[in-house]
Amino acid sequence: MSEPIILNPTGQTVYEQLGGDEPFRRLVDCFYARVERDPVLRPVFPDDLEPGKEWQFLFLTQYWGGPARYQVERGHPRLRMRHMPFVIGEAERDAWLGHMLAAVDEVGIPEPVRSQMREYFTHAASVMVNRAP
Ligand code: HEM
Repeated sequence: MSEPIILNPTGQTVYEQLGGDEPFRRLVDCFYARVERDPVLRPVFPDDLEPGKEWQFLFLTQYWGGPARYQVERGHPRLRMRHMPFVIGEAERDAWLGHMLAAVDEVGIPEPVRSQMREYFTHAASVMVNRAP
């Protein structure tokens, strides 16, 4: 999963189009609030959600064209490999994706970025599946 090159006609990255950190912070907060209440997903995540929440924020801002802070702190994303210790079947994938897409809407990410994010999350969530049903 390399960096997307998604620029609008003015040459802005998605990160710039959305106005920087703040919408991503809200997206991750909203997503994690949902994970915390989800009986399928909560046991898959570690007891302390805070470190992962910060990494998710750093990753997403970097992925969508913001500063390369994830890389500095965690190295190359290698996301499929990093997810291997967690049991991710189709049920977990569906729950994860459902919460992320709902968070995109709850936060009010505007088009065309909303559709770009939906497409990316839908594809990437399936890449993380690492267990047969
Ligand atoms: C679009 C798809 C996904 C992306 C971009 C993504 C992104 C990330 C990132 C950036 C991290 C932190 C990695 C690190 O630096 O250690 C992470 C951790 C994690 N992800 Fe995902 N993920 C995706 C899909 C999923 C799915 C489908 C699940 C299903 C349960 C999942 C469960 C987890 C868990 C359990 C962790 C560990 C959290 C922690 O250590 O606190 N992820 N993910």
